[in-house]
Amino acid sequence: MSSYVVTGVSRGIGWAFLNHLSDDPRNTVIGIVRNKPATDQRVVSELGGRSNITILEADLNRYGDLKRVAAETEVVTGGKLDYLVANAAYITSFDAFPGIGDLGQTPQELTDELHKLLDTNVLANIHLYNLFMPQILKGKAKKVVVISTGVADIDWTNDYELEGNALYGISKAAMNMVTSKFHAQYRKDGVLFLSICPGLVDSGHFNEPTAEDKAKLQILFEKFSRYSPDFKGLDDPASAVKAVMWVIENSSIEQGDGGRFLSHFKNKQWL
Ligand SMILES: NC(=O)c1ccc[n+]([C@@H]2O[C@H](COP(=O)([O-])OP(=O)(O)OC[C@H]3O[C@@H](n4cnc5c(N)ncnc54)[C@H](OP(=O)(O)O)[C@@H]3O)[C@@H](O)[C@H]2O)c1
Repeated sequence: MSSYVVTGVSRGIGWAFLNHLSDDPRNTVIGIVRNKPATDQRVVSELGGRSNITILEADLNRYGDLKRVAAETEVVTGGKLDYLVANAAYITSFDAFPGIGDLGQTPQELTDELHKLLDTNVLANIHLYNLFMPQILKGKAKKVVVISTGVADIDWTNDYELEGNALYGISKAAMNMVTSKFHAQYRKDGVLFLSICPGLVDSGHFNEPTAEDKAKLQILFEKFSRYSPDFKGLDDPASAVKAVMWVIENSSIEQGDGGRFLSHFKNKQWL
């Protein structure tokens, strides 16, 4: 029925996208990963080798890889792509808890980490969008989505003094602007660009915290509970993907959603 390209389907939220979208045998789902044999094996063992899944291999930071997988996708879809989901991201524990001022105590690490975050979470996605745009323009749905995060929301950061994830948040906020700039150019062609936060999702990043991290996590979760009295902790990836897909399906240029930065509730409520 529809064709999808999703990056970073090896694990976490990306794997949940692969599972959810390919569950409808009428869909064609192309997943982009860095290690194709490992994900092919996982598709066989956990999804019974669904025939509507194609796994392609690319490191997002290599332009040549992206160009190749765009060409390989054309062979699978006949050159028409409905949905592109930029899910893959570089996520670092370096900036998880310390404030941006404290990160300056190791300036070289700060520099290296910010470069990596901007390379993968911003620059690579700009190339991804440009390389897949000819296929999106020929598709029916014409929807391009980046999986963003509430920690890129400037007002939320200010109001709740959310000091952690500073560099990651900077990269995601920059990507939100990329969404807007693509919208500004391609609205006239009927392409919907969105940045969507999936909520706080259990993809293993909080596994085995140190005692110090546990204490900081508790303070953060207290802030989250103050922000959203309904906050009950981490969501599971499958539920998060269902919520994000609901937002994608219920958003349109006609409703004024083009270029917007939305939560999994289709508003600015991040949790
Ligand atoms: N989890 C949350 O609570 C949460 C909240 C808000 C937003 N998000 C966003 O949701 C998305 C998925 O997050 P997640 O929690 O599922 O993360 P994750 O489990 O760390 O998965 C990240 C994925 O990105 C891939 N990736 C990273 N760098 C890559 C590169 N250079 N080339 C190709 N693939 C690359 C990884 O592949 P490998 O297996 O090869 O490393 C992996 O598949 C991200 O955009 C994240 O920012 C997550």
